[in-house]
Parts: sequence; C-alpha cells; structure tokens
Amino acid sequence: MKKNTPLIIDDIKAAATALSNDELVAIPTETVYGLAANAFSEKAIDKIYQTKNRPQTNPLIVHLHDVKELPKIAKTIPKEVELLAHHFWPGPLTIVLEKSDAISTKVTAGKNTVAVRVPNHQMTLALLRSLKFPLVAPSANKSNHISPTCPEHVYNSLGKDSPLILDGGTCTKGIESTIIGFKNNTPIIYRLGSISKEDLEAVLGTSVQLVTHEVSSIAPGMQKKHYAPRTPFITCTDMKVELEKYPNKKIGGLFFTGHPLAEQMTHYRVLSSTGAVEEAMANLYRMMHELDELGLDIIISELAPNQGVGASINDRLTRASS
Ligand code: TXA
Ligand code: MG
Repeated sequence: MKKNTPLIIDDIKAAATALSNDELVAIPTETVYGLAANAFSEKAIDKIYQTKNRPQTNPLIVHLHDVKELPKIAKTIPKEVELLAHHFWPGPLTIVLEKSDAISTKVTAGKNTVAVRVPNHQMTLALLRSLKFPLVAPSANKSNHISPTCPEHVYNSLGKDSPLILDGGTCTKGIESTIIGFKNNTPIIYRLGSISKEDLEAVLGTSVQLVTHEVSSIAPGMQKKHYAPRTPFITCTDMKVELEKYPNKKIGGLFFTGHPLAEQMTHYRVLSSTGAVEEAMANLYRMMHELDELGLDIIISELAPNQGVGASINDRLTRASS
C-alpha cells in the first residue's frame, strides 16, 4: 500500500542537502533500501546505529559511484578485485578490503577492513556523484527486521525515526549483496546474496569457500536471528506434512512455486509461479512482509532448490526461522 507521508520524496537535491548536513536519508539500491549517511562524518554514522538499534559491533558497507574511488577507501587492492569490479560493478557484490586511514573505525566497528560496493541504481548513483563524500548504508530497517524493498517498508520499520526516503521504486534484486573477502589471497564468501557462489566462481576461475555465521565472527551481521518476521516462521521440505502439524492455527504458506495445497489455503504467497529463482528472490522479502502483516499464528515456508541464488533464498529463510 502507498503511504501518504511527506518523508517519501523523489528530489535528489533535497536528499543531497540532508546528507551534507549530517542527516540520514533512506536510499534505493538494486538489492534493498539503505539507511545512508556521510561515510566521513562520525556524527552522521552515530545516527545510523541509534536509528536502527544496531549493535556497535556490526560494521557498515561503504557505497561509491565508481570503482575509481576505491583507492580513497582501501589501502591495498588485490588483483582479483579489479576483475570482480569489472564484472559485477555497479552491482550487488560487496568486497572486504584493508581500510584506508580516511575510513573511521566507526564505519568498520573497530576492524582494519572495510566493506565496499558500487550499487546499481541510477538515482543513487546520481546522488553519489553529486556528493563530496561516499555513503555508508546498512539496510534501512530496525535491527533484526526484514530488509525493506520499497519506500513503504522503510517507513513501516523505522516509524517515528524514519528520515527522508528517496523513492526509487521497488528493488529489482530483492535481497542484500553478496559479500566477498580475501584471506591470504584466497577468496571467501562471508554472506550469500543476490550474486550466486557459482557466478563468482565462474569469474574468478576457482572454487570459493563459504564461511557461514557459525564459524565466522568476520561478518558480525550474520548472526542467526536476522531477517526475521514478527510472526513465528518455520521452513520445511514437505508442506503437506508440515501443515498437518498445526490444526486449528491461522497459517500462512510461502511456496517456492505453484502447489496444489496453496489453493486450499486462505493466506499464501507463491515466490515464482514458473519456479524461476531470480524472480523468487525479487519477491521474497515483499511476500514475507505481506504475510507478516496478516496477524497469523505461524508462517510456513518451503525451501528453494539449493542452486544459484536459490541457496541465498534458503539462507534468508533459514535465518528467519531460527
Ligand atoms: O545489499 C546490501 O549490501 C545492502 C544495501 C543497502 O547496499 N546493505 C546491507 O547492509 O545489507 P547491512 O548493514 O544490512 O549488512 C552489512 C553486512 C553485515 O553483515 C556486516 O557484518 C558486513 O556487511 N560487513 C560490513 N563490514 C564488514 C567487514 N569489514 N568485514 C566483514 N563483513 C563486513
Ligand atoms: Mg541488514
């Protein structure tokens, strides 16, 4: 539903003015909406942590308009980074690098590494080009809520703390960027996202290890309880079996693709009627938000096929269900 609030704007200049005054602005990207601040202003960065109720231990991603800006942010740039940037930027790949002195430890939560990406959204690229500084931007939701994929989600999650929201429509990718880093020159995925492991491996010409939250304190945002709806949420491999466990409950079904059982339910969503993983990914958070607003007793979700970005969808569904 369209929210009637003067906070949702399409004026890039007004957004730039607010950001230059150390205010926050929610910005559109191809993945999810970000809660942006001047990456060089500690005062502005503090506001991000306050507004989101974000633990100080969880570092932020720096957003640039061009790979040429990278030397200002990162000290050493491994040769694979040029290759990755060439293939995936602008786009949903975040790269973790040794930070430059210009980057405050407030951005990196005390680490000597910084996460950085060039987002693929024309409005936000135009905004970034008009600014004298890069932007830090975590997803524009309260900590542990589902990430926002349209301006209304931002407004609903941040409520009275909502800043100006630059309306760039619905996010086309629909889940966060994939995060990659290097350890002794070996690439490691810290977070699965809208670029698949297979696509990264094809470009790098080598297999890439996935370091999940259990073994990693490297991406502290990846604790298990994350991306969660408020309604109890579970995943299953057989919807029929799972439904039978909850008689007399108001159940919402989240199906990967069309299913005969869906027609018998009052509340359900289908991520992709043709079973296309990219489409399912783009619909995932919106449908989770929609089911979450129905006042159900429980949401039961099928898992996606575990290939390509299907694995990223399953990562989010599993985290939501903890
Ligand atoms: O798609 C995205 O990446 C979105 C849009 C707005 O760009 N942003 C986003 O930010 O998802 P956030 O804050 O919700 O997630 C940032 C993730 C966290 O898991 C954090 O731990 C990780 O990036 N991160 C940030 N700096 C890091 C670093 N130096 N090393 C490892 N992980 C880092
Ligand atoms: Mg987030």
